[in-house]
Amino acid sequence: MFNKRIKIKELLAQEPKGQEATVMGWVKTFRNNQFIALNDGSTNNNIQVVAALGKFDDELLKRITTSASLKVTGTVVPSLGKGQTMDLNAETIEILGDSDPEQYPLQPKKHSLEFLREKAHLRFRTNTFGAVFRVRHALAFAVHKFFNEKGFVYMHTPIITASDAEGAGEMFKVTTLPLEGNIPKNEDGTVNYEEDFFGKATNLTVSGQLEGELGATAFGDIYTFGPTFRAENSNTTRHLAEFWMIEPEMAFYDLEDNMNLAEEFIKYIIRYAIANNKEDLEFLAQRLADEEKQLPQDKRSEMGLMEKLDFVLNNEFERLTYTDAIDVLKNSNYSKKKKFQYEITGWGMDLQSEHERYLVEKHFKKPVILYNYPAAIKAFYMRQNDNCEPGQQTVAAMDILAPGIGEIVGGSQREERLDKLQSRMKDMEVPAEELWWYLDTRRFGTVPHSGFGLGFERMVQFVTGMTNIRDVIAFPRTPGSAEF
Ligand code: 4AD
Ligand code: MG
Repeated sequence: MFNKRIKIKELLAQEPKGQEATVMGWVKTFRNNQFIALNDGSTNNNIQVVAALGKFDDELLKRITTSASLKVTGTVVPSLGKGQTMDLNAETIEILGDSDPEQYPLQPKKHSLEFLREKAHLRFRTNTFGAVFRVRHALAFAVHKFFNEKGFVYMHTPIITASDAEGAGEMFKVTTLPLEGNIPKNEDGTVNYEEDFFGKATNLTVSGQLEGELGATAFGDIYTFGPTFRAENSNTTRHLAEFWMIEPEMAFYDLEDNMNLAEEFIKYIIRYAIANNKEDLEFLAQRLADEEKQLPQDKRSEMGLMEKLDFVLNNEFERLTYTDAIDVLKNSNYSKKKKFQYEITGWGMDLQSEHERYLVEKHFKKPVILYNYPAAIKAFYMRQNDNCEPGQQTVAAMDILAPGIGEIVGGSQREERLDKLQSRMKDMEVPAEELWWYLDTRRFGTVPHSGFGLGFERMVQFVTGMTNIRDVIAFPRTPGSAEF
């Protein structure tokens, strides 16, 4: 058997008392032809391997270079040096894979995040990305743990679909029709999708919600956790063309139940990450603090990362209606001094991210749940509120806004009344014939139900303090970029 290794994280937790151990990993640094810092990705901490002088061939020692992979067997003893509790005194060192120092792109020094994005295939080996992706894993695991404990059914909704759940129309087409050849056309010159693979026009899903509702109206509570795709041409630090979304959908839930669940969920997964990845988070907190030292005072965060996460856990999210939010914004100094790029024109306007961030970062200084938005700026499936003022029709929508990120959750109570749903679809030109299956849930035992979508990468950004969304997904897809 080849793999009888102990993971470095586990080894470092032991007491060093002369026991034998085999570790495998990649060389971080090699000092004085004697001290190897070896890392295997289980933790950012390295094991110090000591290659006693004279014990190993010069030929072998020459091959111990940054990122070469090694198998080392030796005895574990208390360290004489500073900075680590134990040494692994090597008995045997086997080079599993060489790494030519002339060619290896990541020298042991500080690289910019931009540079590392170009080397995304190797960036996991850096401390920063090691920590980020272990935290990402912990959060993903916590998502499943949370919903499993609550008895939700994990549902896999389709990636290829014929419907546009959000009605925003920013979708990637899926087709096998020959782009460069003879595309079958209808008499009126439009593409004849009947000739296409699925016999109809299809695209990559923007959301699993509509199918999720079908599950919720049978299982009661379901959630999805999968990739979603948006062809928005947004080159920002918060948008990806391919991102992961968690979408729970619950029967017998109104908007308030929905907000309660979302808040509990967010706090749960943060708490899980802190309990299980404290070291990584503390490393990332220090990284962020160092990065912010470069910024002018007024651009720095008021709280450190750990402090911010604790604060979120220990305080209730602020809940206010869209209408109240417009009042806050209108009366703000920012608005009066014309500091917003987009002016606050009044009720009915769509909020820009600068407005959301003002509410969260300047005014309330904590996560905010905005609810009851104007119907005109929200999707067709959201429940129309009763007894609205004339001209002020709202829907039971809610968005959660997080400091430093803006919107991380979008959700709503769903319109369960068939006639209301149909008339709204008609007004918004949503094709009812194509959504016959969706409407059937309102025909056969319709129930009040609600759900939301959490953008997973935005959540990872929030927890790790990474400012660019490209740095929390392994291989980001953004306009003009699909490398790796
Ligand atoms: O607000 P959105 O568009 O809502 C939906 O898709 C609903 N169907 C969800 C539901 O009710 N089941 O997207 C939900 C969240 C946003 O709040 C944001 O966090 C994230 O998905 N998101 C993106 N994340 C990264 N890149 C993008 N281009 C994103 N677009 C949305
Ligand atoms: Mg949204």
